[in-house]
Amino acid sequence: MIKRSSIVTAGLVLFVWLLQSACSNEPRRTPGREYMPDMAHPVAYETYLGNEIFPDSMNAQKPVLGTIPIYQGIVGNENAFMPFHYTNTPEGYEAAGTDVKNPLTITPDVLGEGKRLFNIYCAICHGEDGKASGHIVVGDNVTSKFPPPPSYFTDAILALPEGKMYFSVHYGKNLMGSYSTQLDRIQIWKVISYVRSMQDDYRKTLAGAPAVSDSTKKM
Ligand code: HEC
Repeated sequence: MIKRSSIVTAGLVLFVWLLQSACSNEPRRTPGREYMPDMAHPVAYETYLGNEIFPDSMNAQKPVLGTIPIYQGIVGNENAFMPFHYTNTPEGYEAAGTDVKNPLTITPDVLGEGKRLFNIYCAICHGEDGKASGHIVVGDNVTSKFPPPPSYFTDAILALPEGKMYFSVHYGKNLMGSYSTQLDRIQIWKVISYVRSMQDDYRKTLAGAPAVSDSTKKM
């Protein structure tokens, strides 16, 4: 009968032998067995080179049509690129005028950023004062003047619903181009908030000195 201790000894010897055979001073001759060679050696494709696999034979594939970038984690800018569901038609313009509302809470930060963007994108025509005094529409050094836009303080623009403003900035209107590729949804609303604040200031000056308008409020 085989002794239990000799089984244990044989087991130990086998274990030590296996352990030793796993290590060796000899340089490796074979790479060993690769179970997932694709993952061990990925093919690095050049972004802008061709690739026959794709119908357009390009490595860099465009996002699927209708893909919307999502700014997760940027507070206040969620869904900034959500599509605008009003068609670029007179009916769409009217519908936007009644339905589309500014989603932002007006704060000094919103107005400050709106002003910054306005001065970059809009002031060249509309003027920093909103009175169509932009330097491509007025000024001595302007040789071929661009027809000036209406002042923001005409009755028509003062009465313009913010939804129509958004529509016109998104799609453009006649001589004014579309800003939908330069400004995202939230940025457009910041600019419009700023335009609105200029109009409110203008109304206040029309109403007279601040003291007068304050006393009117109390009545
Ligand atoms: C290239 C000059 C130019 C620039 C830049 C420009 N606009 Fe205009 N804008 C115009 C003209 C011209 C009109 C008049 C369009 C019309 O009614 O035919 C106009 C009209 C408008 C209106 C009235 C739209 C309506 O529905 O009647 C608003 C609001 C407005 N612009 C805001 C902006 C804002 C905000 C920006 C910047 C993001 C901007 N514009 C940039 C030229 C410009």
